[in-house]
Amino acid sequence: MMTWLSELWSGGKAVIEPATIRDTARLAQLHGASFHRGWGEAEFERMLAERNTLLHRLRFGRKTIGFAVSRMAADEAEILSIAIEPSYRGRGLSRDLLLTHLGHLAGRGVRTIFLEVEENNQPARRLYERAGFAIVGRRERYYRQADGEQLNALLMRRDLS
Ligand SMILES: CC(C)(COP(=O)(O)OP(=O)(O)OC[C@H]1O[C@@H](n2cnc3c(N)ncnc32)[C@H](O)[C@@H]1OP(=O)(O)O)[C@@H](O)C(=O)NCCC(=O)NCCS
Repeated sequence: MMTWLSELWSGGKAVIEPATIRDTARLAQLHGASFHRGWGEAEFERMLAERNTLLHRLRFGRKTIGFAVSRMAADEAEILSIAIEPSYRGRGLSRDLLLTHLGHLAGRGVRTIFLEVEENNQPARRLYERAGFAIVGRRERYYRQADGEQLNALLMRRDLS
């Protein structure tokens, strides 16, 4: 299996593009590797069929290594999920994915974007802060871990101009 470095060496680059129905198995796999309550293929199929849902995949070389999905309502949207395959994290790839996704939301007329993030999820918080999101609320014990632990959620918002 090629590492990200050898893929880069052989000309691999990150490409962000709309996900299609052919991606659902891979998207479910990526989601399952990132969240303890993983979404299945059917969930992704359903989202791809919805006109108000925007789903982008991040390809690196020939491999899909991440995705971002959000749901729009009038001029607002909520980021439902964003994830990068564990072995490709920490290399700044999520930033392009998120910013491109936000650009497409803006192109669809979205003016305000919300999201929820677990308070201790430092990489995600850092990603969102650097992309211009600000904390606008906090929900105590919003998430329940597999071991029963309850974690707080932060509600974040960004206005697109
Ligand atoms: C959140 C996620 C998409 C970020 O992707 P990534 O490729 O790891 O992100 P980046 O490499 O761009 O790093 C993002 C920022 O977090 C920082 N960071 C990375 N790991 C960190 C850690 N363990 N602790 C603190 N900060 C960290 C990076 O330095 C970077 O900040 P910077 O731009 O100021 O340097 C990825 O970690 C992931 O898929 N996580 C699991 C799914 C998830 O939690 N999604 C968000 C749900 S709301």
